[in-house]
Amino acid sequence: MQENEINPWSSENTVTIQRLFTEFGIEPITDVASDLSDIPFFMRRNIVFCHRGYEKIADAITHKKPFNVMTGFMPSGPPHLGHLMVMKEVVWHVKQGGRGFIGIADREAHAVRGLSWAQCEMYGKEYLKCLYALGYEGVVYTQSANHDLQDLAFLASEKVNFSELSAIYGFESETTLAHAISVLHQVADILYPQVAKGPAPTVVPVGIDQDPHIRLTRGIAHKMRLFTIEDRGEYISVRSKNAPEEALSFVHKKFPGSKKYAGHVDIKGSSMELVEQVVRDSELAVGGYAFVTPSATYHHFLPGLNGGKMSSSIPESFIGFTESSKVVYKKVMGAVTGGRQTLAEQKELGGEPDICPVFLLNLFHMIDDDVELHEVRQQCVMGELMCGQCKGDTAARVEAFLADFNSRIDEVSHMVDDVYKR
Ligand code: TRP
Repeated sequence: MQENEINPWSSENTVTIQRLFTEFGIEPITDVASDLSDIPFFMRRNIVFCHRGYEKIADAITHKKPFNVMTGFMPSGPPHLGHLMVMKEVVWHVKQGGRGFIGIADREAHAVRGLSWAQCEMYGKEYLKCLYALGYEGVVYTQSANHDLQDLAFLASEKVNFSELSAIYGFESETTLAHAISVLHQVADILYPQVAKGPAPTVVPVGIDQDPHIRLTRGIAHKMRLFTIEDRGEYISVRSKNAPEEALSFVHKKFPGSKKYAGHVDIKGSSMELVEQVVRDSELAVGGYAFVTPSATYHHFLPGLNGGKMSSSIPESFIGFTESSKVVYKKVMGAVTGGRQTLAEQKELGGEPDICPVFLLNLFHMIDDDVELHEVRQQCVMGELMCGQCKGDTAARVEAFLADFNSRIDEVSHMVDDVYKR
């Protein structure tokens, strides 16, 4: 497979943030975050740093309109601290009124990573327990058992061809069809909430590596619409792409005084919002889906303790949720830091918290209080807090977090059995 700019299956993150904004059309989160009355810590701390189409979600939260939050987890290994951010984002959006949807991407794990179904089930349950322990409420399914999802994946596949897949993912003639099919399952995951509950804005919290899937899905959602709506200033033009005649007449009748032509209806004196609503109703009435283009948020990755990516295939890089205090202590104490070569140098120059996996672990998950986090940062920068001390403090925080989290996991673990009841 050729190496693309952003590739969800490569472990390297090669794209600089600036290029995301200028070339890929992703936008910084700051403007839209300030529309929220309760800005979550992950936006305040710039962990979630950019988005596509989040305005719709901020609007839905603010005005208490229906919206969905959906994401998927590939059960290809045990969940670890690197997965916690997405989970917290999902739970936060559910608490803001979003309808939750979690897809366990077992077909993807089976097709792309070669895991057995039994392994997929074992790891899938671990992810779900973590989500429930964090307070998740909502729909949960596995790709392999969700037949509506599979039907949707099939319909979505009618809108994609091989050259598109190779342009986006670098697929070549050797790529298995199962790999391509698993991509379409992810597209279906993202659109599924709107099939289950009707058209509504949907936010998909993901790492930036998943953006190709988001772009593909947004394109497909648009292609599956039966109409396009164009604001022409003087009037709004509702133009059929592949809508049946009755759907066009439906729109025409709803707007007295509108003009109907072959393939389009022109409407004067109505708001865009109303036209959009009527067009959606007309699409639904003839069996269309009327998808709202899905939105996404993108977060930075929590770096691995060894300085690279936090990855379940590199034990010293991650902290698992069920690891013993002894192992946690050893891993944190052995972590790479933003410290200097010598103690003298560190006292003189101070540490570099912004590139330090240990500081970032605190920033992501271990210190909730902004003032306390700021103090740790200051002491580090001033050369007052040495790495040994800081790592010891952090290990203690991680241990306390895990003890609490595991007791919560125990309380909710019975909830996953229903999901896997066949
Ligand atoms: N491909 C994602 C991963 O590798 C998992 C995933 C499957 C997903 N379906 C999804 C993510 C839908 C977001 C939305 O982790």
